[in-house]
Amino acid sequence: MDKLVIRGGTRLKGEVTISGAKNAAVALLPATLLVDGISTITNVPNISDVKIICTILEKLGANITWHTPNTITVDTTHIHSTTAPLDMTSKFRASYYLIGSLLGRCKEAVVGLPGGCNLGARPIDQHIKGFEALGANVEVSQGKISASAKKLVGTSIYLDIVSVGATINIMLASVLAEGTTIIENPAKEPHIVDVANFLNTMGADIRGAGTDIIKINGVSKLKGNATYSVVPDQIEAGTFMLSAVATKGDLIIKNCIPEHLDCLTAKIIEMGANVEANGDAIHVWTSQRPNKTNLKTQPYPGFPTDLQPQMGVCLAIANGTSIINEGIWESRFQYTAELNKMGAQITNQGKSAIFEGVDTLYGAPVEATDLRAGAALIIAGIAAKGETSLTNLIHIDRGYENIEEKFRKIGANIQRVTEEF
Ligand code: UD1
Repeated sequence: MDKLVIRGGTRLKGEVTISGAKNAAVALLPATLLVDGISTITNVPNISDVKIICTILEKLGANITWHTPNTITVDTTHIHSTTAPLDMTSKFRASYYLIGSLLGRCKEAVVGLPGGCNLGARPIDQHIKGFEALGANVEVSQGKISASAKKLVGTSIYLDIVSVGATINIMLASVLAEGTTIIENPAKEPHIVDVANFLNTMGADIRGAGTDIIKINGVSKLKGNATYSVVPDQIEAGTFMLSAVATKGDLIIKNCIPEHLDCLTAKIIEMGANVEANGDAIHVWTSQRPNKTNLKTQPYPGFPTDLQPQMGVCLAIANGTSIINEGIWESRFQYTAELNKMGAQITNQGKSAIFEGVDTLYGAPVEATDLRAGAALIIAGIAAKGETSLTNLIHIDRGYENIEEKFRKIGANIQRVTEEF
């Protein structure tokens, strides 16, 4: 079992380059199933969720070539199965995109119920509502979802809840449907726009992604040979921005889209740190302890739930008492118990938590309870006095490429150690 050993007390300084977005890549790869041909994707994050999807695509008959660690060609000419290996799909959340893509291409899909981080109940009723509205029969039984349709026909779908996954999945299923599909109350995250742009590059006709209404005019076929670069990871960029705040650091975060981080930038300035955007880079620096602040996580362009734990570290050491309200997931505060082991004073009450800022955190053995909690605990370990050992890295490796190397390059004392049991 691997663990990260972090000797803390470092002020992070230097430049870090952001990878392609995990949440875009895990949708773009299944989307390649919609073309009967070759797609080349660049700026792919080299993370375990991406590798699992590639393996699943290969089992369905795709041919995948890695040209570099971040460039993949997917040839979907010889897809011979519509059943994704059930044990593999249950390992991560985004496997649900295989349903929309296979349904769109083959009018049939059997996929295991999706797994992923334990953030509380993670229903997929809005995905199913969308598939059914398009004309599919959907059954959920024995740990799998089976969907099939004679044909898919465009219609109007109103999402009862703003859902990233349901928005993308309905787009995937409707690109090759007959007629026009309208998604009302969709999610607007940058990776939704990215998936729409990718599909449009291949000849789809999707309008309005990133706005309040998405309109998909069905086309009969997509063209192969598209080359597409994955959008920079807004959550990874935000993770490094907050690491500068927590360590009184000075970081230039390169290859990101500053506008995607406007709400975080506003909060960081409110906390007394400096932020300057310059083209595709963001400079964050401070020499003072963060000020207290309150926030509520919301769908984009609100404060992202996936940056809540990293922000929680900054508030744990802020000057004064702060409150976070979690607006998306039920169980997103598991990391607070780990931070309390490091000397934080956080009280979690259901979907909110009160952070009484302390001067200093102290290194301790802690566990990554989920992906973003893991990133938060790395930041806490770097900011803390003494040594932190962080276990359960499987979550972190699902979503961050070379995370310890990136932190090492900006001054962190962090080593991955493999322990035999
Ligand atoms: C995606 C991201 C995840 C992020 C989340 C919210 C991926 C692979 N994961 O997850 O990192 O934390 O967006 O930004 O992109 N809901 C329903 N019914 C549904 C679908 C969702 O009630 O059918 C609810 C969920 O319980 C949650 C909220 O809607 O409370 C948002 O979920 P959703 O946006 O779908 O999250 P994911 O796509 O799973």
